[in-house]
Amino acid sequence: MKVAVLTGGGDCPGLNAVIRAVVRRATEHGFEMMGLRDGWKGLLEDNHFRLTRETTSGILHRGGTILGTSRVNPFKVENGLEKVKRAVERNGIHAIIAIGGEGTLSAATRMSQEGLRIVGVPKTIDNDLNGTDFTFGFDTAVTIATDAIDRLHSTAESHKRVIVCEVMGRHVGWIATYAGIAGGADVILVPEIPADLKKVAEHIQRRNASGRTFSIVVVAEGTLVKASPDQDEHLITSGALDEAGRPRLGGVGSIVAQQIEQRTGFETRVSVLGHIQRGGVPTAHDRVLATRFGVHACDMVARGEFGQMAALRGNDIVSVDLALATKELKRVPEEFFKVAQVFFG
Ligand code: F6P
Repeated sequence: MKVAVLTGGGDCPGLNAVIRAVVRRATEHGFEMMGLRDGWKGLLEDNHFRLTRETTSGILHRGGTILGTSRVNPFKVENGLEKVKRAVERNGIHAIIAIGGEGTLSAATRMSQEGLRIVGVPKTIDNDLNGTDFTFGFDTAVTIATDAIDRLHSTAESHKRVIVCEVMGRHVGWIATYAGIAGGADVILVPEIPADLKKVAEHIQRRNASGRTFSIVVVAEGTLVKASPDQDEHLITSGALDEAGRPRLGGVGSIVAQQIEQRTGFETRVSVLGHIQRGGVPTAHDRVLATRFGVHACDMVARGEFGQMAALRGNDIVSVDLALATKELKRVPEEFFKVAQVFFG
């Protein structure tokens, strides 16, 4: 039986660990594994190669994806679905394991509704996919961001500055919340709570008055902030978003830093972590989670659990409805905003 595997959307530490686990388990099931290059594009362009234990050996700890990735969505390509169906038939593909985030899994859901045999594996450093407690890649991103915040502390303290650290998180503030709490940030700004920079400035001023002459502010890239000191009632979007309406890297971080400096008079700097959070080796935790997802996804194919996705629930890896992943965003629960007396919002 031939099974294809693809990685779609932004890359994420742990992708190679999933691929390796899928291939190893496939050998036990007697499946022949095919790797599709650059996500769904590999099917549309018939670009694939055979995956074996040998060709996937030594990749467990490597960042990125040996399959390559893209954001190509067959439903946005002319006759895309037909092309995919024809490629599946022509190559004798029994099932597809799609490892991806919001975009890849939405396409996977639609394809499975169109009769294709698909199994999903949730992937994103943002941890915003519904249906699973955690996604792999998140722990690595948080570890990198926490290390950065630790480093920013010493320089902020020496120079008596405010440092704004912008982390990823287009729709939700999981990375900002975890790294901010772990790194002992003084203020954490997340998309779940539109930021009131007047209050943020007052908080920093209070800190200063009590003798703390530096502050660390962690802000998720998708946070909404108010435009300027005299436009308190307006939430801005323009400065921090690009033409496609997606957060512009460094956009919100710069606005927050500018505003804090203007409102407090304290020297402020901004540090944008960007894609550093997505690159390099996965943490041990992410390697284990990715491996468990890969094994489970392969077993799902063997059991015929199509239209479903591997998910973490508590300590167990389970199968859930694929459509659940993208039904709604998994936001940070409010309980986190009360932790450790960090100033949120
Ligand atoms: O999907 C995760 C993510 O890291 C988002 O937080 C971020 O907005 C986006 O990817 C950036 O992706 P790219 O620059 O690769 O388009």
